[in-house]
Amino acid sequence: MTLTNIDTDEITRRLGRDRLILNAAKTKLVPFTSIHRDDPKYLSWLRDYEVIKTLGLPEYLVKPASYKTIASYCDDLIHSPTNLFLAIYDNTDETFIGTIKAGHINWYSSTADIGIMIGDRTRWGKGLAKDGISILCQYLFESTKLRRLTAGAMSNNPAMCSIFDTLGFKQEGILRKQDRFENSYCDHIYFGCFANELRPVHIKKLA
Ligand SMILES: CC(C)(COP(=O)(O)OP(=O)(O)OC[C@H]1O[C@@H](n2cnc3c(N)ncnc32)[C@H](O)[C@@H]1OP(=O)(O)O)[C@@H](O)C(=O)NCCC(=O)NCCS
Repeated sequence: MTLTNIDTDEITRRLGRDRLILNAAKTKLVPFTSIHRDDPKYLSWLRDYEVIKTLGLPEYLVKPASYKTIASYCDDLIHSPTNLFLAIYDNTDETFIGTIKAGHINWYSSTADIGIMIGDRTRWGKGLAKDGISILCQYLFESTKLRRLTAGAMSNNPAMCSIFDTLGFKQEGILRKQDRFENSYCDHIYFGCFANELRPVHIKKLA
């Protein structure tokens, strides 16, 4: 596989984006669409300081995100051949609660970077992020045949660091005092995982 002979149709097929539904124990992941983009709660999450303070998107901290900016960001992701952008639903009541992304997919090196936001703060601490990340990683390794997944987190985000550790990601590097946090700076921690290292919370094989 070279960079030049992988076309858009092949990427769509490999991502399975047009028909993708990932059913986990606590969450369901489906392609993020204009319906999620235009749901007022999505914009409200991106304006909630407690949600965005560890997201690594300083532009949203400096100035409240506008619908126009967010819509354009989402539209780029929805159609991107190098990003798989999904909406997260809580299985208990089928509510849209956040987003998850396999970003910067490199089809040549077979790598991607995982990011997540549980925007509904009332759902934090229930294992939903761990559940969603686990099923997405399983899908990326088993169905999409990616070889290596990476992720990054601010060191003041213990929940995120704990999730990657539990799922078998290895801490691979630290950028010292890379991220600004309020009136101080904190480290940025990089994680990486190969298929044989993943410890998914779901033991069933994906179809
Ligand atoms: C970080 C975030 C994704 C966590 O989501 P969540 O659904 O609350 O996380 P979960 O409940 O699945 O898992 C939390 C894990 O972290 C652990 N944890 C939570 N707070 C912790 C703390 N202060 N210290 C250590 N571990 C902690 C929990 O014990 C749990 O681990 P366990 O299942 O082994 O017990 C969510 O808070 C969020 O979206 N925050 C805003 C955006 C963000 O920071 N995204 C990540 C950017 S890299």
